[in-house]
Amino acid sequence: MAENGFEPRIAALLCRWCAYAGADLAGTSRLSYPPNMIPIRVPCSGRVEPSWVIEALNAGADAVLIGGCHPGDCHYVSGNYKARRRVALLRRVLGELGVDPARVRLEWVSASEGAKFARVMRDYVEEIRALGPHEGGLGSSTAPEAVAESVVEAVEQVVQHG
Ligand code: FES
Repeated sequence: MAENGFEPRIAALLCRWCAYAGADLAGTSRLSYPPNMIPIRVPCSGRVEPSWVIEALNAGADAVLIGGCHPGDCHYVSGNYKARRRVALLRRVLGELGVDPARVRLEWVSASEGAKFARVMRDYVEEIRALGPHEGGLGSSTAPEAVAESVVEAVEQVVQHG
């Protein structure tokens, strides 16, 4: 635990084929990592909409981890490449809005990489602990709801044509 008692809440959007299975393996192998993660199983990292990340941050998550299959291993061929483009763009937009881009992270974890999953979680929790809580959200008075909505729209438009 951090000195100030802050324990980050990290929403983890994990591809069911790889990263989710890797998280499962970490658990069944009794590998220790901090219990700060809220795991959410998704069909593929490429299915993660930018709006989900923003909604998670607005709903009280301090950070969002997206986990997918390694490049070349996506069960839908190119979903993880799409995720990579989306996350890069989203991080840029978040930075423009004054939200530290480190609050969104993308990792490749295979079903056999329980140890890697545990390592990623330890590392990310440590990083977000040092960063502190995500305050205000994108629907706060500094960035009203309408701003969050237009960010989502802008990101999704670029993604669709990107
Ligand atoms: S199926 Fe895992 S990232 Fe696409």
